[in-house]
Amino acid sequence: MRILSGVQSSGRLHIGNYYGAMRQFVQLQDQGEAYYFIANYHALNTVRDPKLAQELTRDAALTYLSLGLDPKKAILFRQSDVKEVAELYWILGTVVPQSNLERAHSYKDKVAQGISPDFGLFAYPVLMAADILLYSADAVPVGKDQIQHIEFARDWAVKFNTQYVPGYDPADPEGKERGHSPGILKLPAAHVQESTATVPGIDGRKMSKSYGNTLELFGEEKDIKKRIMSIKTDSTPVEAPKPTTDAPLYDLLRLMLPAAEFAEVDATWKAGGKGYGDYKKKLLEAFHTTFGPARQRYAELRADTGELERILQDGAQRARAEAHRLMDQVRRAVGIP
Ligand code: TYM
Repeated sequence: MRILSGVQSSGRLHIGNYYGAMRQFVQLQDQGEAYYFIANYHALNTVRDPKLAQELTRDAALTYLSLGLDPKKAILFRQSDVKEVAELYWILGTVVPQSNLERAHSYKDKVAQGISPDFGLFAYPVLMAADILLYSADAVPVGKDQIQHIEFARDWAVKFNTQYVPGYDPADPEGKERGHSPGILKLPAAHVQESTATVPGIDGRKMSKSYGNTLELFGEEKDIKKRIMSIKTDSTPVEAPKPTTDAPLYDLLRLMLPAAEFAEVDATWKAGGKGYGDYKKKLLEAFHTTFGPARQRYAELRADTGELERILQDGAQRARAEAHRLMDQVRRAVGIP
């Protein structure tokens, strides 16, 4: 099984990225051939400062490694180090219905926030599909917000194969029946961990770099504390049972505490007896227990710039070999010499 996923280097990574996606990346590196990358072309949609773009790319790579990605097991690379992705993006785009892009959540959300869309934002799912299809991925571990993009990638792979592969039958995409041909582009599937599919931010909306409501994995201690203490709660008095478990503080405790400790929290939350301030302190402790070792590694790795670049170059070389193989077939199929 081939596993592939990426994170955008559009800001510092946060615990939503971790629980929604990156924790699975680390687990899956033992279960198949894993490709993980830093989506630094995608990040250009929001990061327009070249120095910052480079720094955030490097920071995302450090984050992967600090969280336990092992470059001996998984291929770690920068999206921009494999130029074929831009070529496939174009070729694939020629079979993508504009109406699909118009109903993409990411695009519609940004427009709803009053952001005036550039072509890059509009075409973003096509580049993401190219990321996935270029490496013939089977499974793509992601949070819930990315499911639609992976469904698009599947649909467009079918469109491409139907158009360009003689004998391709969408009902038999792997060409198992006699007379049918396997597609050139393999159909990927989203791999979503239901319990962590959407991690809430400190204001209760989805945790997101663009909402500024994140808990950064490698943020400054003081800032983490301030943010945890400002998690949105209602005004239930200390001794009273909390009116609802539909609260970001409750969800974050559930994510970060060991099961036995969370069971205690769950009981007092529903029965009364503790105030939100106590729970926030508990969450802060849990944050440091959970991410302490990774934060330590991050500090160490940051100091060694040569090693990081060597890992990324090695990853790019391995990813390129796979990209060349696929693009040979794609170019031949469409008639590009
Ligand atoms: P990005 O950078 O926004 O997020 C990276 C991963 O983190 C997950 N995630 C969350 N999961 C649960 N709760 C949250 N609050 C939360 N916030 C983020 C995302 O679902 C994602 O899995 N378009 C992608 C990057 C990308 C990509 C790809 C992913 C580019 N090409 C190809 C997979 C395959 C993105 O912007 O993710």
